[in-house]
Amino acid sequence: MHSFPSLKSSRLQLRPLAQADVAFVLYHFSDPAVNRHLLDQAAIASLEEAQNIVDFFVQSTDDTYTRWVLVNQADGQPIGTCGFHKWDQRNRRAEIGYDLTPGAWGQGYMSEALTTMLTYGFTAMGLNRVEALVYPANTASVKLLEKLNFQREGVLRDCFYHEGSFYDHWLLSLLKPHFQALSA
Ligand SMILES: CC(C)(COP(=O)(O)OP(=O)(O)OC[C@H]1O[C@@H](n2cnc3c(N)ncnc32)[C@H](O)[C@@H]1OP(=O)(O)O)[C@@H](O)C(=O)NCCC(=O)NCCS
Repeated sequence: MHSFPSLKSSRLQLRPLAQADVAFVLYHFSDPAVNRHLLDQAAIASLEEAQNIVDFFVQSTDDTYTRWVLVNQADGQPIGTCGFHKWDQRNRRAEIGYDLTPGAWGQGYMSEALTTMLTYGFTAMGLNRVEALVYPANTASVKLLEKLNFQREGVLRDCFYHEGSFYDHWLLSLLKPHFQALSA
């Protein structure tokens, strides 16, 4: 069993999602702007759904999924989340997910958070390959990944079914030798 610690970047603290985060999870994952390109899951609308998300990460003994809350060190406020999914320890690979509250977009916060998370992944977790699935129209996310040296490998056709339609996604990946931490 792997124990995921809190991590720190210059402006952020990345701390594992906790029971105290239920209200933030509801606020964050019910926001249409945050959810617009998160097509692998439905937006949530109730405290019960937020509690289910928190319980999944807090109570589970399955360490193939982890989620950190991004806390702005300046004021202690949560501004988003990020984490690894589907950690395959045998093959040393995992997928990543990330989302920021709209008021924090465009200020380099997720570049900073992912640099910190990937540094941890490629060292403490022993990862060699990190994957990201992105809706092609999600320009901010594609740019973010390219800035971190992720390379596009192809299109996963009709990868997600969301509100009556299927959506293609791009598969991007980053290999350990190509990872270079960005300075904040
Ligand atoms: C995707 C997301 C996490 C980006 O976070 P962010 O902190 O705003 O990104 P950064 O400020 O670190 O920007 C990274 C790069 O992307 C570029 N970028 C950011 N937003 C952009 C936009 N709307 N359009 C074009 N480029 C954009 C930046 O210019 C930056 O490159 P630069 O440093 O060379 O200028 C944020 O938009 C978000 O949470 N979106 C909603 C949830 C989501 O879609 N998650 C990803 C699912 S795959």
